[in-house]
Amino acid sequence: MEFFSVVDKRRSIRSFLSDTPVKDESLDKILQAAMLAPTAANKQPFKLVIIKNPKELSFVKQKSVLEAPLVIAIFVDESQAWTRAPDHQNYAFVDGAIVFEHIILAATAEGLSTVWVANVDPFLMQKHLKMPENYRFLALTPIGYSREEPKEITRKSKNELISYYE
Ligand SMILES: Cc1cc2nc3c(=O)[nH]c(=O)nc-3n(C[C@H](O)[C@H](O)[C@H](O)COP(=O)(O)O)c2cc1C
Repeated sequence: MEFFSVVDKRRSIRSFLSDTPVKDESLDKILQAAMLAPTAANKQPFKLVIIKNPKELSFVKQKSVLEAPLVIAIFVDESQAWTRAPDHQNYAFVDGAIVFEHIILAATAEGLSTVWVANVDPFLMQKHLKMPENYRFLALTPIGYSREEPKEITRKSKNELISYYE
Protein backbone atom coordinates (compact mmCIF):
# COMPACT_ATOMS: atom_id res chain seq x y z
CA MET A 1 0.00 0.00 0.00
CA GLU A 2 1.28 3.47 -0.87
CA PHE A 3 2.55 5.43 2.18
CA PHE A 4 -0.07 8.20 2.17
CA SER A 5 -2.87 5.64 1.71
CA VAL A 6 -1.54 3.83 4.78
CA VAL A 7 -1.55 7.07 6.78
CA ASP A 8 -5.12 7.79 5.61
CA LYS A 9 -6.30 4.26 6.29
CA ARG A 10 -4.86 3.96 9.81
CA ARG A 11 -7.56 4.53 12.40
CA SER A 12 -8.12 3.25 15.90
CA ILE A 13 -10.24 0.10 15.79
CA ARG A 14 -11.63 -1.41 18.97
CA SER A 15 -13.56 -4.45 17.75
CA PHE A 16 -11.99 -7.43 15.98
CA LEU A 17 -12.92 -10.68 14.24
CA SER A 18 -11.64 -13.09 16.90
CA ASP A 19 -11.51 -16.13 14.64
CA THR A 20 -9.52 -14.62 11.77
CA PRO A 21 -5.82 -15.03 12.59
CA VAL A 22 -3.02 -12.72 11.53
CA LYS A 23 -0.88 -14.45 8.89
CA ASP A 24 2.69 -15.29 9.93
CA GLU A 25 4.00 -13.41 6.84
CA SER A 26 2.19 -10.27 7.99
CA LEU A 27 3.54 -10.58 11.52
CA ASP A 28 7.06 -11.04 10.12
CA LYS A 29 6.74 -7.86 8.03
CA ILE A 30 5.36 -5.92 11.01
CA LEU A 31 8.26 -7.01 13.22
CA GLN A 32 10.77 -6.19 10.49
CA ALA A 33 9.29 -2.67 10.24
CA ALA A 34 9.60 -2.34 14.02
CA MET A 35 13.25 -3.35 14.01
CA LEU A 36 14.02 -0.84 11.21
CA ALA A 37 12.68 2.08 13.25
CA PRO A 38 15.17 4.75 14.24
CA THR A 39 16.10 5.19 17.91
CA ALA A 40 18.24 7.89 19.51
CA ALA A 41 21.95 7.02 19.10
CA ASN A 42 20.68 3.66 17.75
CA LYS A 43 20.33 2.39 21.33
CA GLN A 44 17.22 0.27 20.57
CA PRO A 45 16.18 0.28 24.25
CA PHE A 46 12.95 -1.66 23.73
CA LYS A 47 11.50 -5.13 23.97
CA LEU A 48 8.43 -6.32 22.07
CA VAL A 49 6.25 -9.07 23.48
CA ILE A 50 4.05 -10.97 21.00
CA ILE A 51 0.92 -12.31 22.67
CA LYS A 52 -0.83 -15.01 20.65
CA ASN A 53 -3.43 -15.78 23.32
CA PRO A 54 -4.74 -12.31 24.29
CA LYS A 55 -7.72 -13.80 26.17
CA GLU A 56 -5.23 -14.58 28.94
CA LEU A 57 -4.78 -10.85 29.52
CA SER A 58 -8.07 -10.89 31.43
CA PHE A 59 -6.90 -8.11 33.78
CA VAL A 60 -6.99 -5.76 30.77
CA LYS A 61 -10.54 -4.50 30.76
CA GLN A 62 -10.53 -3.37 27.11
CA LYS A 63 -12.76 -5.46 24.83
CA SER A 64 -10.51 -4.81 21.84
CA VAL A 65 -7.62 -6.60 23.55
CA LEU A 66 -9.60 -9.66 24.54
CA GLU A 67 -11.24 -9.97 21.12
CA ALA A 68 -8.15 -9.68 18.94
CA PRO A 69 -6.26 -12.74 17.64
CA LEU A 70 -2.90 -11.09 18.39
CA VAL A 71 -1.51 -8.40 20.69
CA ILE A 72 1.90 -6.75 20.63
CA ALA A 73 3.14 -4.98 23.76
CA ILE A 74 6.19 -2.74 23.97
CA PHE A 75 8.40 -2.11 26.99
CA VAL A 76 11.31 0.32 27.20
CA ASP A 77 14.42 0.40 29.36
CA GLU A 78 15.56 3.90 30.29
CA SER A 79 18.94 2.60 31.43
CA GLN A 80 19.73 1.53 27.84
CA ALA A 81 18.42 4.69 26.18
CA TRP A 82 20.19 7.85 25.06
CA THR A 83 19.93 10.83 27.41
CA ARG A 84 20.28 14.44 26.20
CA ALA A 85 22.98 16.05 28.33
CA PRO A 86 21.74 19.65 28.89
CA ASP A 87 18.35 18.70 30.34
CA HIS A 88 18.90 14.99 31.16
CA GLN A 89 15.93 14.11 28.94
CA ASN A 90 15.75 10.33 28.56
CA TYR A 91 14.53 9.22 25.12
CA ALA A 92 13.37 5.66 25.91
CA PHE A 93 9.67 6.48 25.61
CA VAL A 94 10.22 8.51 22.42
CA ASP A 95 12.17 5.62 20.87
CA GLY A 96 9.49 3.16 21.91
CA ALA A 97 6.74 5.35 20.45
CA ILE A 98 8.52 5.53 17.09
CA VAL A 99 8.98 1.75 17.03
CA PHE A 100 5.35 1.27 17.96
CA GLU A 101 4.04 3.60 15.25
CA HIS A 102 6.11 1.63 12.71
CA ILE A 103 4.21 -1.45 13.94
CA ILE A 104 0.86 0.32 13.65
CA LEU A 105 1.56 1.59 10.11
CA ALA A 106 3.03 -1.73 8.93
CA ALA A 107 -0.05 -3.55 10.21
CA THR A 108 -2.25 -1.05 8.36
CA ALA A 109 -0.26 -1.67 5.16
CA GLU A 110 -1.01 -5.37 5.62
CA GLY A 111 -4.77 -4.65 5.73
CA LEU A 112 -4.90 -5.15 9.49
CA SER A 113 -6.38 -2.92 12.18
CA THR A 114 -4.89 -1.72 15.45
CA VAL A 115 -5.32 0.72 18.31
CA TRP A 116 -2.69 2.17 20.59
CA VAL A 117 -3.60 1.17 24.15
CA ALA A 118 -1.69 2.93 26.92
CA ASN A 119 -4.44 2.86 29.51
CA VAL A 120 -3.50 -0.44 31.13
CA ASP A 121 -1.93 -0.98 34.55
CA PRO A 122 1.80 -0.99 33.67
CA PHE A 123 2.76 -2.95 36.79
CA LEU A 124 0.28 -5.73 36.01
CA MET A 125 1.58 -5.90 32.43
CA GLN A 126 5.15 -6.13 33.65
CA LYS A 127 4.31 -8.83 36.18
CA HIS A 128 2.04 -10.87 33.94
CA LEU A 129 4.48 -10.86 31.00
CA LYS A 130 7.40 -11.58 33.34
CA MET A 131 9.38 -8.55 32.23
CA PRO A 132 12.48 -7.59 34.23
CA GLU A 133 12.03 -4.52 36.46
CA ASN A 134 14.11 -2.23 34.26
CA TYR A 135 11.58 -2.56 31.41
CA ARG A 136 8.66 -0.14 31.71
CA PHE A 137 5.40 -0.79 29.88
CA LEU A 138 4.72 1.79 27.17
CA ALA A 139 1.70 0.50 25.22
CA LEU A 140 0.09 -2.44 23.52
CA THR A 141 -1.97 -2.89 20.41
CA PRO A 142 -4.44 -5.56 19.43
CA ILE A 143 -3.90 -6.57 15.80
CA GLY A 144 -6.48 -8.22 13.60
CA TYR A 145 -9.28 -7.75 11.12
CA SER A 146 -11.78 -5.04 11.94
CA ARG A 147 -15.35 -5.75 12.97
CA GLU A 148 -16.38 -2.07 13.00
CA GLU A 149 -16.24 1.19 11.09
CA PRO A 150 -13.80 3.72 12.57
CA LYS A 151 -15.23 6.73 14.43
CA GLU A 152 -15.45 10.03 12.57
CA ILE A 153 -12.01 11.66 12.44
CA THR A 154 -11.56 14.86 14.45
CA ARG A 155 -8.41 16.96 14.51
CA LYS A 156 -7.54 20.50 15.62
CA SER A 157 -7.29 23.06 12.82
CA LYS A 158 -4.10 23.63 10.84
CA ASN A 159 -3.70 27.04 12.53
CA GLU A 160 -3.74 25.48 15.98
CA LEU A 161 -1.27 22.73 15.13
CA ILE A 162 1.21 24.35 12.76
CA SER A 163 3.08 27.64 12.92
CA TYR A 164 5.72 29.02 10.60
CA TYR A 165 8.91 30.74 11.64
CA GLU A 166 10.14 32.95 8.78
C1 LIG B 1 -0.09 7.23 22.99
C2 LIG B 1 -1.52 6.81 22.73
C3 LIG B 1 -2.23 6.14 23.71
C4 LIG B 1 -3.55 5.72 23.48
N1 LIG B 1 -4.19 4.96 24.42
C5 LIG B 1 -5.44 4.52 24.18
C6 LIG B 1 -6.10 3.69 25.13
O1 LIG B 1 -5.57 3.36 26.18
N2 LIG B 1 -7.36 3.25 24.84
C7 LIG B 1 -7.97 3.57 23.64
O2 LIG B 1 -9.10 3.14 23.42
N3 LIG B 1 -7.36 4.35 22.71
C8 LIG B 1 -6.13 4.83 22.94
N4 LIG B 1 -5.47 5.59 22.01
C9 LIG B 1 -6.13 5.89 20.71
C10 LIG B 1 -6.53 7.38 20.57
O3 LIG B 1 -7.66 7.61 21.37
C11 LIG B 1 -6.80 7.67 19.07
O4 LIG B 1 -5.60 7.51 18.38
C12 LIG B 1 -7.33 9.08 18.85
O5 LIG B 1 -8.61 9.23 19.42
C13 LIG B 1 -7.42 9.43 17.37
O6 LIG B 1 -8.24 8.50 16.68
P1 LIG B 1 -7.67 7.67 15.44
O7 LIG B 1 -6.53 6.83 15.96
O8 LIG B 1 -8.81 6.82 14.95
O9 LIG B 1 -7.20 8.63 14.39
C14 LIG B 1 -4.17 6.03 22.24
C15 LIG B 1 -3.43 6.69 21.24
C16 LIG B 1 -2.13 7.07 21.47
C17 LIG B 1 -1.35 7.75 20.36
